[in-house]
Amino acid sequence: MIHELLIDQLAEEHALSLEGYEQLIAGRTPESAIRLADLARAECERVYGDVVYTRGLIEFTNYCKNDCLYCGIRSGNSECRRYRLTVEQIMQCADEGYDLGFRTFVLQGGEDPATTDEWLGAVVGMLKRAHPDCAVTLSVGERSRQSYARLREAGADRYLLRHETASPSHYRKLHPRSMSYDNRMRCLQDLRDLGYTVGVGFMVGSPFQTAADLAADLKFIEGFKPEMCGIGPFVPHHATPFSGFKGGTVELTCYLLSIIRLIQPNILLPATTALGTIDPEGRERGILSGANVVMPNLSPVEVRADYELYDNKICTGEEAAECRGCLGARMISIGRRLAVDRGDPK
Ligand code: SAM
Ligand code: FES
Repeated sequence: MIHELLIDQLAEEHALSLEGYEQLIAGRTPESAIRLADLARAECERVYGDVVYTRGLIEFTNYCKNDCLYCGIRSGNSECRRYRLTVEQIMQCADEGYDLGFRTFVLQGGEDPATTDEWLGAVVGMLKRAHPDCAVTLSVGERSRQSYARLREAGADRYLLRHETASPSHYRKLHPRSMSYDNRMRCLQDLRDLGYTVGVGFMVGSPFQTAADLAADLKFIEGFKPEMCGIGPFVPHHATPFSGFKGGTVELTCYLLSIIRLIQPNILLPATTALGTIDPEGRERGILSGANVVMPNLSPVEVRADYELYDNKICTGEEAAECRGCLGARMISIGRRLAVDRGDPK
């Protein structure tokens, strides 16, 4: 009963109190999940129709100076086979992606000291000149305000930097002492000030995460109003300190996708690869819970398996065209279609 009231309030006001979010999460039932998903799907269709946006993901380096406890490409993982794509390889991935219908390219990588402003700015400039009708999204972690400003001047349109958790005490449990919650938040504010379209996000079911932590994530999203939000289940990686922890579930991830869609009806919300990894129909379930974006991989097949953030990552053996075709068919099967579009927020 309390649940129904909370759901009605969320759908009408696009906001709840911190306690309200916590109750909605901790007391969830299969019935409340269905009701939230129905409302979220309707809201998504009202804003975006039957269209699902695509982003071509180019994972261009797996070198990383950070040592996040959950991540398979952390600097402390000596098992990880490191690679860096050349400018030519990156441009080739983008050209192939363009022919397949991608109009957004996401350059993602670890925090690689070789990714200087000069080098990355030049790559962004080349991508924008080669494909002026495309958006370029960067996802290369924490940098200085000056660096973000230079990359924006070079032509970058969007930036994805998951906040990871909006609870400072939880943040400390997921990261080494060299990293801080305050710096993560400073980065997000700088990106916003500089005019980027900004994406935040977090893992669902990460070690030590409570319903109160998730409520803080939702309250943060409500206040920051990011244009995009990437959420996916935590999936353990065998060579990290968190190898023995349980992973997140499809059920809770989809529940949170629905809540986020209702908080901000026009938000860009991907059904992530991690969701597809823990359930063969995870991405379809994500879309049916309110997500409206998919981000297939355009990286060369020979390096895919090395960008191993977590175990059993899907699509490491498939060519870009195969993933595009596969996702297209998956979307048709649930009454959606992939757009050939930059996919800006409405
Ligand atoms: N270095 C950039 C950054 O920090 O934003 C981009 C790459 S980082 C590997 C991309 C995201 O992968 C992280 O923000 C994190 O949420 C997610 N990730 C890392 N390890 C994961 C795991 N074991 N399970 C699920 N997601 C994970
Ligand atoms: Fe890559 Fe299905 S999306 S094979």
